[in-house]
Amino acid sequence: MCGIVAYIGYREAYPIIIKGLKRLEYRGYDSSGVALLTPEKNLNIYKKSGKVSDLEAHASGKDLHAFTGMGHTRWATHGVPNDVNAHPHLSQNGEFAIIHNGIIENYHSLKTALIERGHEFKSETDTEVLIHLIEEVHKNNIVSFEEAVRMALTQVIGAYAIVILSKQDPTYLIGARKGSPMVVGIGENEHFIASDATPIVEYTRNVVYLNDGEIVIIDKNKLTIKTIDNTVKTPYIHELEINLESIEKGGFDHFMQKEIFEQPRSILDSFRGRTHINEATIAMAGIDKFEDKLKNIKRIIIVGCGTSWHAGLVGEYLFEDFARIPVEVEYASEFRYRNPVLDENDFVIAISQSGETADTLAALELAKSKGATIFGVCNVVGSSIPRITDAGAYTHAGPEIGVASTKAFTAQVTALILMALSVAQKRGTITTERLRELLIELETIPGKVETALKLDAHIKTIAEEFKNSRNALYLGRGYGFPIALEGALKLKEISYIHAEGYPAAEMKHGPIALIDEEMPVVVIATQHSNYEKVISNIQEVRARKGRVIAIATEGDEHITSQADYVIYIPQCEEAMLPLIASIPLQLLSYHIAVLRECNVDQPRNLAKSVTVE
Ligand code: G6P
Repeated sequence: MCGIVAYIGYREAYPIIIKGLKRLEYRGYDSSGVALLTPEKNLNIYKKSGKVSDLEAHASGKDLHAFTGMGHTRWATHGVPNDVNAHPHLSQNGEFAIIHNGIIENYHSLKTALIERGHEFKSETDTEVLIHLIEEVHKNNIVSFEEAVRMALTQVIGAYAIVILSKQDPTYLIGARKGSPMVVGIGENEHFIASDATPIVEYTRNVVYLNDGEIVIIDKNKLTIKTIDNTVKTPYIHELEINLESIEKGGFDHFMQKEIFEQPRSILDSFRGRTHINEATIAMAGIDKFEDKLKNIKRIIIVGCGTSWHAGLVGEYLFEDFARIPVEVEYASEFRYRNPVLDENDFVIAISQSGETADTLAALELAKSKGATIFGVCNVVGSSIPRITDAGAYTHAGPEIGVASTKAFTAQVTALILMALSVAQKRGTITTERLRELLIELETIPGKVETALKLDAHIKTIAEEFKNSRNALYLGRGYGFPIALEGALKLKEISYIHAEGYPAAEMKHGPIALIDEEMPVVVIATQHSNYEKVISNIQEVRARKGRVIAIATEGDEHITSQADYVIYIPQCEEAMLPLIASIPLQLLSYHIAVLRECNVDQPRNLAKSVTVE
């Protein structure tokens, strides 16, 4: 949460920063701001509540000429989203400026001590406290700017990715990270800092991912990395794999729409090269590494948040069905504070698109501290979770920019299918013929998703019908249950219609009371196990005048007499249903949100990479 970008070099900094902030807006869009160090050593700060486009309008016509600068897009934690609380923040003497992603937990005690020393604060933010602290350390200890930052950070408790600049030392910028992501781009006679690589990829493919507890000092030509206790580190330079096209809209109206339509390819990319149909084998290095452990494992624990937690539920069914291993699926935020019973026999899988979600990271750290083997299923290469895990599987969905997760979910499910099947093979709980059958089926999934995407126009007409609903219910059983949860989450996230996902049979224990002629009820009613039972649940809804939208299997004529609207999807193996049945639900929420004129890619109050707990 919160996006940061900084530049030092020979180009105009402002356009680079603004473009970068737009790419990082998925991390927050409550306010944004820039600090520019002009060649005359003036420090110009422009900030504005609202979107980056509001900042651009505000800064238009002002002095923007600078070769050094930094910018921030905010997701508010301490202090309401207004102009004053927007970053950058200045020290009392106006010499230092800071941008910050994260939370300074001991800001209150630091602030009290600083007030006693005569500091006055303009904003309500924790960030302003940090820059005043740096000023104070600098002044009292007569140390360099760099040393002051380092010393101040030793007093800070909390999470941060920060960039600081100084009017007195305009030739360099300082970045530091603990718990929030930071990437440094290395160009020729220029350097970049950002929360992720998307603002950088246009200018250089060479990056360094900063580790927790590290500080980076960049000037035009040089990059130095140190730890907070002042040990110099050798930077490890990665080559970026993402390309520019993958982070632009490419003719679609919204990133979410583009990402929904990318799924035939992203699902293929998540199993490409991992399946060998002739030999009936799966190559997943991370899973193979723990073959012995997984053969005898007694349980698996899956942790995640939001959509990733839903993918985890699908994983539960997959591991239980195929590998016959009991699975517990936990909200990372609950698990981390619950004193869970864990030891070295456990295998904990964290699922996270961003690889940065604070609660998921903390849950993994807890599991690691108790001796469990920790495994990551992540999309963003080089992010924090893959860097702390014992092993993992990247989902290869490509950058996901729409805040509501779509292609990352189906890629997570694809990776989990492969993992469950691979473990099943190692444990001897699946026959070679059955495994081959499933791998052949997986090969057909991108084509079936393509077919499901052709339902777009039909789904739009259903969206017209329900765009003014105030509530919606999503029902499913078995694999249909996590699909229902995910469908409901998509609708509420982007259209602000209250929606609940429920196991279809549980409906009669509560939600049935809500059903009337106004209530759309989306039911996953494909011809898989429990089909007849789901049909009975549909009848219970219809008896109360609810309006049923059924997701059904192509060729199922019976369902037309049961539902008000039918969305037919291609027949598939039950275990792969989430990959196909999720598509119409994503499209339904997308069209409803567009018809309601909601900001699809940046829904209010949400952010994509939740680096605060
Ligand atoms: C936020 C996003 C969701 C996402 C969740 C977990 O709430 O809006 O789309 O599912 O975080 O994020 P992760 O990156 O860990 O998958």
